Amino acid sequence: MNDKELVARQAARQVKDGMLVGLGTGSTANFFIEALARRKDDEGLRVTTVASSVVSTIKAQEVGLPMVALEQVTRLDLYVDGADEVSPDMTLLKGQGADLVREKLLANASDAFVVLVDKSKLVDRIGARFPIPIEVMPFAWRMVKRSIEATGGQGELRPNAGKDGFAVTAYGSLVLDMTFDPALDSQTLDDTLNGTPGVVEHGIFRGLASAVFIGVDGQVQERWAS
Ligand code: A5P
Repeated sequence: MNDKELVARQAARQVKDGMLVGLGTGSTANFFIEALARRKDDEGLRVTTVASSVVSTIKAQEVGLPMVALEQVTRLDLYVDGADEVSPDMTLLKGQGADLVREKLLANASDAFVVLVDKSKLVDRIGARFPIPIEVMPFAWRMVKRSIEATGGQGELRPNAGKDGFAVTAYGSLVLDMTFDPALDSQTLDDTLNGTPGVVEHGIFRGLASAVFIGVDGQVQERWAS
């Protein structure tokens, strides 16, 4: 079993009977969806789920997890998702999969948010390995790009998979992938992006993770927020 599957199984063991659970997006979140479905089938665990994306909706339907629509949800017991980067203060970078709007809503509405990563995702600072994904209203992208460039950011619109156009999110937004001066801390970056008109959402998840489960060579290390 690889480290992603290992942490996913450990997270599935956190789920208690009757919980409303948010399902993340990505390869690690998929392992969690499978592990949760196994607990439902094998142990009779009663669980209701809400998905963070079209992809996780289809995955959850395939394995027979009961689902409710996001529109029906005001709060969740638990949200479980992967991440692209995790810094020492448990700030996350997400959004390589471009589903960050629903992901951040679910993370914020959950009593607990458990993040699943392998050790390759641990970084000294957010932005160390990936640019910051910034989802923008299509008509605003030039203005947003200019505003962000004024803070020292650099980057471009994310291309689509065929490299013959631009990536468009599930909600019709474009994505700017931007890099910043490494000296800029994630709190300043988060505040700057939150205050930029035209930004729908961005990939810095600060103060949201309750725990990070890290798969390290066949072992799980749990880091809980104090
Ligand atoms: C989705 O938008 C992302 O935030 C994913 O959670 C992230 O890319 C992790 O993906 P993997 O679990 O596939 O590494």
